[in-house]
Amino acid sequence: MTLVNNQPIGIFDSGIGGLSITKHIKQQLPYEKIIYVADTLYSPYGNKTAHSIIERVNSVAEKLLQQKIKALVVACNTATVNTIEQLRNQIAIPIIGVEPAIKPATINSKNKKIGVLVTQATAKNPRFLTLIDKFSSGAEVIIQPCPGLVELIEQGDMDTLQCEVLLNKYLIPLLKKEVDTIVLGCTHYPFLLKKIEKSCGNNIKIIDTAIPVTNQLQRQLQKNQLCTTVNNPTSIEFFSSKPSLLLDSLCTNLLDQEVSFKLF
Ligand code: DGL
Repeated sequence: MTLVNNQPIGIFDSGIGGLSITKHIKQQLPYEKIIYVADTLYSPYGNKTAHSIIERVNSVAEKLLQQKIKALVVACNTATVNTIEQLRNQIAIPIIGVEPAIKPATINSKNKKIGVLVTQATAKNPRFLTLIDKFSSGAEVIIQPCPGLVELIEQGDMDTLQCEVLLNKYLIPLLKKEVDTIVLGCTHYPFLLKKIEKSCGNNIKIIDTAIPVTNQLQRQLQKNQLCTTVNNPTSIEFFSSKPSLLLDSLCTNLLDQEVSFKLF
């Protein structure tokens, strides 16, 4: 029988966004086995109702549990804010979510003006709004939903003029408000980091959550005595609800390793 410690960690997102987290997990926990699921048939989650998001997350989580995962990383802000409480109530393994980093942004901000780039579904989610109330400690938080960005990233159109124009449309209101800190509240957006930095200049700090999420995963594995005992470099298995050659080539580029998705 396989030792629980050597079972895989399940990571999922609506698509390729969760790879921005997976990259760090792979670097920091190089011997852990990973199963990555991209729910691309239902991507993006950001334009779905809370009900549809919950349905999709339950279905993906159930299939990952059948693969005997020892921990689950919900590598998607939209899925996390809509489902994390319910998942934690139902599933008895460590579950690590990703939420927009409001608290670190407030601590960083000198002028107490923060922008948060999120999906539409996150922008109106009550848990997210409570997070802002709880942690903004008086700072002005400008929530900027970004419809269409995830679709362009999923199509591999990150380096197009269309993507630059759309991104700038979402950054301009934040720049006009003179925010000094911007939170990337969707795991797809770190793939646009260079473009965001170019538009924002050096005086705005961009906050991503990949490192704190990886640290939290590591802490949870240690606390629950679930760290792998194997000393082989990470193997990642990739599954998708709609595999495609485009998905393979995009992820091969983003992760710097040969990636081939299987049907989930
Ligand atoms: N990457 C996701 C997030 O962090 C979901 C994006 C989407 O599917 O709309 O919110």
